[in-house]
Amino acid sequence: PKLIVVTREGEEREVTGESGLSVMEVIRDNGFDELLALCGGCCSCATCHVHVDPEFAAKLPPMSEDENDLLDSSSERDDRSRLSCQIPFGPDLDGLRVTIAAED
Ligand code: FES
Repeated sequence: PKLIVVTREGEEREVTGESGLSVMEVIRDNGFDELLALCGGCCSCATCHVHVDPEFAAKLPPMSEDENDLLDSSSERDDRSRLSCQIPFGPDLDGLRVTIAAED
């Protein structure tokens, strides 16, 4: 499936991701170094913060309490915010568009 990634500079790139990886892993595997993902996907760092296009909101898994708390620690949080390591990528999310959140 395809994932569209928008960088902090506003550059947009379409990449192909493997199903079963997290959106964070797909972004990292395609060389976007600005997504730090420091904890490696353990839902404890919040440096994999992305803004998800609203049209996909209904297809995303619900947010855990941990994810919600971590996002609250970010001044960049808005109603499209998610931690990309908490979103499993797959065919149902084909064409998903995410914007890497600005640094806190
Ligand atoms: Fe650390 Fe997602 S990679 S919370």
